[in-house]
Amino acid sequence: METAKPKQPTGKLGVMTVGMGAVATTLIAGVEAVRRGLSKPIGSLTQMGHIRLGKRTDEHSPLIHEFVPLASLDDIEFAGWDIFNVNMYEAASTANVLERSHLETIRPFLEAIKPMPAVFDQHYVKRLSGTHVKTGRSKCDLAQQVRSDIQQFSATVDRVVVIWCGSTEIFIEPAAVHATLASFEEGLNNDDPAIAPSQIYAYAALMEGVPFANGAPNLTLDLPCMVELARKTHTPICGKDFKTGQTFIKTVLAPAFKARMLGVAGWYSTNILGNRDGEVLDDPESFKTKEESKLGALEYILQPELYPDLYSDMYHKVRINYYPPRGDNKEGWDNIDIFGWLGYPMQIKVDFLCRDSILAAPLALDLVLFMDLAKRTPELAAAGIQEWLSFYFKAPQTAEGLYPEHDLFIQLMKLKNTLRHIMGEDLITHLGLEYYE
Ligand SMILES: NC(=O)c1ccc[n+]([C@@H]2O[C@H](COP(=O)([O-])OP(=O)(O)OC[C@H]3O[C@@H](n4cnc5c(N)ncnc54)[C@H](O)[C@@H]3O)[C@@H](O)[C@H]2O)c1
Repeated sequence: METAKPKQPTGKLGVMTVGMGAVATTLIAGVEAVRRGLSKPIGSLTQMGHIRLGKRTDEHSPLIHEFVPLASLDDIEFAGWDIFNVNMYEAASTANVLERSHLETIRPFLEAIKPMPAVFDQHYVKRLSGTHVKTGRSKCDLAQQVRSDIQQFSATVDRVVVIWCGSTEIFIEPAAVHATLASFEEGLNNDDPAIAPSQIYAYAALMEGVPFANGAPNLTLDLPCMVELARKTHTPICGKDFKTGQTFIKTVLAPAFKARMLGVAGWYSTNILGNRDGEVLDDPESFKTKEESKLGALEYILQPELYPDLYSDMYHKVRINYYPPRGDNKEGWDNIDIFGWLGYPMQIKVDFLCRDSILAAPLALDLVLFMDLAKRTPELAAAGIQEWLSFYFKAPQTAEGLYPEHDLFIQLMKLKNTLRHIMGEDLITHLGLEYYE
């Protein structure tokens, strides 16, 4: 199919992060460190990845950022919101992800970035109490304030993308207020309790035609009203919940078991982490949001309805325990009970000593660059939901009634084929018979 290619980027790309904690400060500090040549952008597909074009024998695999017109890191400007009024140097010091020596070299740059007051209500994040918070007559008024923040920042740059790097909100189910854009707007006027702060930011961004990515598991974009608004304003949306540590590994291992027709009797996943995110997730209502997001992947990958002998009796459990001494350095254990030929049991143990925000920051970078690309690509912008970015999420958003792809390598193929498609290149099917003709 013929498709209009993406428009070239010109001028600055403004990146607004909702929440300027561990992930956001690691992203911002990291981008600056890379720009100054102090580090390599390790973990970022947009910066380090190649994409094969044509046949294997063509030996043509340009860098992704040379193949598609992405904004350059040099053209990114950062802004955002947080409930704590501290600059990015102080916030990064509190998050304690990057070493002091790393932060000192870019201290003036970080100190110059300060958050705008947030839309926040402790009802939705029980373990935090914010001081740097907007007040308004109604949720509608708060949304207008966020819109004017975006407008003011937009006036200083060429294009804007918003990414939610805020805390995980409590578990909320879609309600009547989310059914249509009209009902949502009525709910904003009536201060409907089913409208969480994250939804107010998303609404404001989409009304401004600004792409919005959701890095947390809260119910923010996967609502009919948001899909309607995204399509109406030709604005890309994607979520949710960065696929960084345990779920990243899970969505690599599970497809391997299924590929070999090995059964899974049980999968017990536990985590300890001690950052602010861990503290927020210590609240049962926020944990429930995370749990739902983490539990989904296995069911979809293993398809117990198609393979009842292998997966229908699987016991799957996910735990997260707040353990302050570890800070951002999470430890995720998986005990996997699998079975093979004639039902003989085997076990696999995975102990991933990861660094949460070190894994998340490059994903956040890729997402803002790809969302900006999507906004400049008519066919992608018109679609609203960017399913090709499933690669980055634990609970990928898809069209109504369509099950998400969780297998990391299917997701990567989908992402790369989307890039080939928008640039008018042949898709790669991996059929490969042509080499034997
Ligand atoms: N590997 C990862 O780090 C990872 C993976 C998947 C998802 N996430 C999610 O990303 C989010 C950010 O993680 P983090 O480690 O940076 O957490 P963090 O606690 O360090 O930062 C979150 C920030 O959001 C702010 N905040 C909360 N509510 C806000 C609001 N309504 N408006 C503006 N700011 C608000 C908080 O004050 C805090 O500074 C969390 O929801 C987390 O679950 C992180």
